Amino acid sequence: MVKIFIDSADIDEIKQAYAWGIADGVTTNPSLLKKAVDKRKKKGQKLNLKTYINEILKVAKGTPVSLEVTETTAAGMIKQGKALYKMFNKVAKNVYIKIPINPAFKNSDSTHFDGIIAIKALSKAKIPTNCTLIFTPEQALLAAKAGASFVSPFAGRVDDFIRVNNKIKVDKTAYYPSIGMTKSKKVLEDNGIYSGTDLVWRCVQILRNYNFKTQVLAASLRNTRQVRECGFSGAHIATLPLFVIQDMLKHQKTYEGMKGFTKDIVPAYVALTK
Ligand code: E4P
Repeated sequence: MVKIFIDSADIDEIKQAYAWGIADGVTTNPSLLKKAVDKRKKKGQKLNLKTYINEILKVAKGTPVSLEVTETTAAGMIKQGKALYKMFNKVAKNVYIKIPINPAFKNSDSTHFDGIIAIKALSKAKIPTNCTLIFTPEQALLAAKAGASFVSPFAGRVDDFIRVNNKIKVDKTAYYPSIGMTKSKKVLEDNGIYSGTDLVWRCVQILRNYNFKTQVLAASLRNTRQVRECGFSGAHIATLPLFVIQDMLKHQKTYEGMKGFTKDIVPAYVALTK
């Protein structure tokens, strides 16, 4: 069954998803953490980050929580990853260290291999990792070979990238067809990747072909059809913002059906259970 993670560092949102009984884990990243911290600062709340993260880990007890490194060299990521794991894993034994597949900022940087070096070292130290910022099945393959527990293809950002490259207005939450879009009779793509959910599917296939234990954690999902397509693709996990989880429950005909059934209630039937 596809697992649902909550893609948030906001404790209220995380609590909500767990209260609904459908959350199987949590993913955070530096931007999500900043959003959660800024929200509290705005409200004038004082935040002890260590206590705050401890609380997230306790709410998610029994399910994985990804905490991302911020260092950008292999040595830095290994040191920080080990430190984060030592500090936080004792709380609820559910910490996964999130490592970018490569921490370079541009093509000429020399740190392209640092992500897989860090994953390998952490996995050797029995620290589970979630390899993030995956945009090709090849990156997923190398992360899996290095020992990543999860690989996170970023579906929504692929759709953004293809749109921007083809001068199509980007609406981050708008559905982008899994099979791709055409413009001037040309199928739009990014080096053979036709959409974000196509990337997820290809990551699943490439790892499945060789029986890797690494799980595909579909990330950067911003609408319900992407989630559906991740389910079709065989992705092990879909990490979702709270609003996407909420949207998954909605349908106009469900509302209409409720109205109709409620209108027709036979009082004697209700009285049976009073
Ligand atoms: C989760 O692991 C990712 O960091 C997250 O899904 C990215 O989503 P975004 O592309 O909507 O920022």
